[in-house]
Amino acid sequence: MNSVEKEQLEYIEKCRTLIGEWSKEKERSITYCVVTFGCQMNARDSEKLKGILEETGCVSASEDEADILLYNTCTVRDNADRKVYGRLGTLKEVKKQRPDMVIGVCGCMTQETVAAEKVKKTCPHVDIIFGTHNVYTLAQLLYRHLSEKTRTVDIWEEAKDVAEHLPVRRKYPFKSGVNISYGCNNFCTYCIVPYVRGRERSRLASDILEEVSRLSKEGVSEIMLLGQNVNSYGHDLKEEDRMTFAALLKAVADTEGIRRVRFMTSHPKDLSDELIDTIASHPKICNHVHLPLQSGSSRLLKDMNRRYDKEHYLELVRKLREKIPDVAITTDIIVGYPGETDEDNEETLDVIRRAEFDNAFTFQYSKRTGTPAASRPDQIPQEVVTRRFNKVLALVQEMSRKRAMLLEGKTLPVLVEDVNEREEGLVTGRLENNMSVHFKGDASLIGKYVDVVLTECKGFYYIGEIKNV
Ligand code: SAH
Ligand code: SF4
Ligand code: F3S
Repeated sequence: MNSVEKEQLEYIEKCRTLIGEWSKEKERSITYCVVTFGCQMNARDSEKLKGILEETGCVSASEDEADILLYNTCTVRDNADRKVYGRLGTLKEVKKQRPDMVIGVCGCMTQETVAAEKVKKTCPHVDIIFGTHNVYTLAQLLYRHLSEKTRTVDIWEEAKDVAEHLPVRRKYPFKSGVNISYGCNNFCTYCIVPYVRGRERSRLASDILEEVSRLSKEGVSEIMLLGQNVNSYGHDLKEEDRMTFAALLKAVADTEGIRRVRFMTSHPKDLSDELIDTIASHPKICNHVHLPLQSGSSRLLKDMNRRYDKEHYLELVRKLREKIPDVAITTDIIVGYPGETDEDNEETLDVIRRAEFDNAFTFQYSKRTGTPAASRPDQIPQEVVTRRFNKVLALVQEMSRKRAMLLEGKTLPVLVEDVNEREEGLVTGRLENNMSVHFKGDASLIGKYVDVVLTECKGFYYIGEIKNV
C-alpha cells in the first residue's frame, strides 16, 4: 500500500465517523447510489466509488432514495451528456425537499472544461464535482463537503498517483473487469476520450497479475481486461517491464482459478498475429474480439486518423476467422462523420456484408468540443445521417441474426449471471461469445458454468435448456 492509499484510508475512517453521526441523527442507515453512464472503464471506476462508500458505512439504495447520489458520467456522445443534465435538472426539486442529501458528479463529462463550467453554473444543487483522474479521492472530497458544508470541486488536469488497493464493490462476485491501461494516445479526430482520460498509461504486468490472483481467490472466474486500446499495452513501459498484450493475456488465462478471459477494446491498427494465435490456442481466452471498424471507407479512416484501411481491416477479419473458426467479431460504426458521402457509406455497408459481424454498435456522429472533426465545415445534415444510419442498422441486424442462427441447436457452456428479471423461473447467462441465453433455473446456479442447449435463437439472444447430465 502506498502513501496515497494510506491517506485515503484515513479519509475513509474520518468519513465513517461523520456518516455514523449522520446515521444516529436520522435513526437509520445512510444510503448511497452510484449511477454509471458509458463504457466498461467507467463501470469499473464505479465499483471503486461504491467500495469507498461502503467502507464509510453507507448502504446501497435506489437512485430515488439515496442520501448520497453520485453520477459517474460519460461524454463520448452528446446524448450521454444530455441524459446527465436531464437527471440533474429533476434533482433540483428533490434537493429542495431533502436539503441534506449529497449530490456528486464525476467522470468523463466533468473532466471536460465546458461541461464542468456548465454543471458548476447551472446546477447549484450539486455538492461535489470531480473528474476521472481523482476517482480514488472520493472519501477526501466527501469528508471536506460533510465537514465544511460547502461545495467541493476538484478536477485534475492530468493523472497523478495510482491507488489500486482501495476497497472495491464488485457488481458480480464471480466476474470482474481489470484495468490494464488507462487513457488513450490515438486521437481519432472525432473522439473526446484522449482529452478526458489523458495519455495512455499501462499498469505493470506484475500488478495486473497480482490483482487477477487476488480476484481469483475471492471467487472470480471470469476476467475482462480493460483498456481503450489493449493491443498497444506496454508500449509506454520501461524496456525491462515491457510485455506484449498477447503474453499478458496468456499469463492472465494461466492464473489458477480463472476460467474465462475477455478483453476490450482492440484497435485494428495494433492487432498482432501473436494475439490471434494466442486466442486461437488458449481455451480459456474467449473467442470474441471487439474490433471497432468506425468506417468502411479508407478515405474516411485516413481522415479519422485510424491508421488502417478497409483492406487491412478485412484481412484481419479473414485471419481471425481462419485461425479461430468459431470466433465472434463485434464492432463499432460511426455514421455521418464530416465529409461522409453516399459512396463512403456504401463502403461501410460492404465491410458489414463481408465481415458478417456478430454484433455491431452503430452510432450517429456527434460533435465533441475541442476535437478536430468538430470544427470541420462539412458536417452532414441530420436527415442524411438518419437515412444512412437506418441502412447500416438494418444490415447489421440482418447479419447478426444470420450469425446467431448458426449456433441454434448447439450445446455450449454458459456462465450464469442473474435470475431473469422479467420472467420468473428463468436465469440468464452468457456464452463465450458474450451473447445472452435465458433458460429454466434458479438462483443457486448464479456464478456457475452449465452446459445449455440453445433451443431457439431470438436474434440477439437465445432461449435454452440446461443439458441433463
Ligand atoms: N477505444 C475504443 C472506443 C471507445 S469509444 C476504440 O477505439 O475502439 C466507443 C465508441 O464510441 C467508438 O468506438 C466510436 O464508435 C464511438 N464514438 C466515439 N466518439 C464518437 C463521436 N464523436 N460520435 C459518435 N460516436 C463516437
Ligand atoms: Fe477514442 Fe480512438 Fe482512443 Fe478509441 S482509440 S478511445 S476511438 S481516440
Ligand atoms: Fe464515455 Fe469516458 Fe468511457 S467518455 S465511453 S465513459 S472513457
